Amino acid sequence: MDTEYAFRHRHILGIDQFSEADIYHILQTAGSFKEISNRTIKKVPILRGKTIINLFFEPSTRTRLSFEIAAKRMSADTFNISASTSSATKGETLIDTARNLQAMNPDIVVMRHAYSGSPHLLTKHIDASIINAGDGTHQHPSQGLLDMLTVLEHKGKIQGLKIAIIGDIAHSRVARSDILGFTKLGATVHVAGPATFIPPGIDKLGATVCRTTKEAVEDADVVMALRIQRERQNDPLIPSLREYAVFFGINRKLLENARKDTLIMHPGPINRGVEMNPDVADGPQSVILDQVTNGVAVRMALLYLILGGEKNSTDGK
Ligand code: CP
Repeated sequence: MDTEYAFRHRHILGIDQFSEADIYHILQTAGSFKEISNRTIKKVPILRGKTIINLFFEPSTRTRLSFEIAAKRMSADTFNISASTSSATKGETLIDTARNLQAMNPDIVVMRHAYSGSPHLLTKHIDASIINAGDGTHQHPSQGLLDMLTVLEHKGKIQGLKIAIIGDIAHSRVARSDILGFTKLGATVHVAGPATFIPPGIDKLGATVCRTTKEAVEDADVVMALRIQRERQNDPLIPSLREYAVFFGINRKLLENARKDTLIMHPGPINRGVEMNPDVADGPQSVILDQVTNGVAVRMALLYLILGGEKNSTDGK
């Protein structure tokens, strides 16, 4: 590790808060934590006595579970609240929920919420650190970081790569975090999808908008498909899933245009046969489950760095 470097972030709200040095430091820290998950006893005492609350107002499999596993592997105490089991169902506001959580003195609150900006709001009403685990259509920073770690591990670099992201860019917080992160590290990000799924101004984040999926994946080093976020759409934005699959689904024929060693990625959950064919999702170029494995390591790194792990102790790591 660079001994001059200091991680200075109390909250993790979006990839845009990070410098290139921050991102590489998080990825390097995550990389150093990976072997803990392969030990017989998968536990180190470095966050003993710390309290982490996972406050999820939207469904999640990967993110919620990997934050919990990450915290437990570092001996923190973790507690989970979901929307359906919280007093939000009785009309309690987000701010009141935050104040009540603060009264129990957690060190970190990891929050997922349907409203873009809700983790930012929480930081004004709570002393604990906040980690954004996905806010509406805004950002999903830990997903962006685990995607960067996965590409870095498989390609050895990010600078100069072509990343193609296909699908529902408009409603995807993953797309925004990935565009900001990969371009900050010197990759180019090319996006394609139905016109109704390409939001105005996405080029201002650094993405190149392509007219066709063929153009986006041409010579791409990475091809990532996104799920259609139907829970964020009031009106139908595509004629049918079958037509979407024909024109925008990732299949072997389309991948003939990409590099032979292109990586296939998807943040999950996958709708097989819609945004990606099963033979691609499960094929030799797929690193989708590596993304999930890296999610634990990245979230261990974030919890550790926020709680000042390097200052406090690296004993027992
Ligand atoms: N990638 C992702 O956020 O998955 P979950 O919704 O299952 O957490």
